[in-house]
Amino acid sequence: MRRIIAHRGLPQLAPENTLSAFEKMQDYQIEWFETDVSITKDEQVIIIHDDYLDRTTNQSGPLDQATSEIVDIADAGSWFDPSFKGERIPRLEELITFINQSRMNVNIELKAVTGAAGNRLADSLVKQLSDAIQLINPAVKVIVSSFNPLMLLKMKALQPQLEYAVLFENHTIYEDWPLIVDAIGANYVHLESDGLTQSLVKTVIERGYHLNVWTVNTKDRANELFNWGVEGIFTDNAESFVAKKTVV
Ligand code: G3P
Ligand code: CA
Repeated sequence: MRRIIAHRGLPQLAPENTLSAFEKMQDYQIEWFETDVSITKDEQVIIIHDDYLDRTTNQSGPLDQATSEIVDIADAGSWFDPSFKGERIPRLEELITFINQSRMNVNIELKAVTGAAGNRLADSLVKQLSDAIQLINPAVKVIVSSFNPLMLLKMKALQPQLEYAVLFENHTIYEDWPLIVDAIGANYVHLESDGLTQSLVKTVIERGYHLNVWTVNTKDRANELFNWGVEGIFTDNAESFVAKKTVV
């Protein structure tokens, strides 16, 4: 299998993790995409990668200090290109609507929540995602991933039937990583491409886990990883890995 996973939608063609970035995927034969879910101070679940608003919106500050009012007025498009001015930060409900309309398979990454209210917000994020995932059409494949094992454990307790992935950065992968993966009951391991060796790929596969690798933007590295037996890659330019849909 050579699974191409569009990372944050199509972030070369539209601002990452926005509805425009997701909708553009439908012009291509893309079957999987990845996106990030996080939460504001007042427990609004939103689609954003960073734990600050600064890089991808015209607002600033940490999410755990941001309210829904700020999210409502945030422009998540102008930083990318003026033609995307007024693009909003998607809410969780909008992501679910897109998934059900497009029927695209999705990897939803639960972002770790920081700050003083981190535990309360993390629990709220997990609960709200659990409720929302129940609204996804059963034909859609869903993988929930996180760098945070505790959030995955809590999510798995609420939604035991889902597929789960533990994310590792290569500098944090440690010898007893299977203990964490097995304690969660995850069947996927998502590893960082930079520095990833064939030997670790072999070990992960021999232990029976599915393996997707992030973030792979060149064909050469993608081919190398696929030849090693990696199942899927997350890429920022999925449009260059698949064909464009033909308009009838
Ligand atoms: O899920 C793969 C990848 O997205 C994890 O890293 O920082 O891009 O969310 P990051
Ligand atoms: Ca991510």
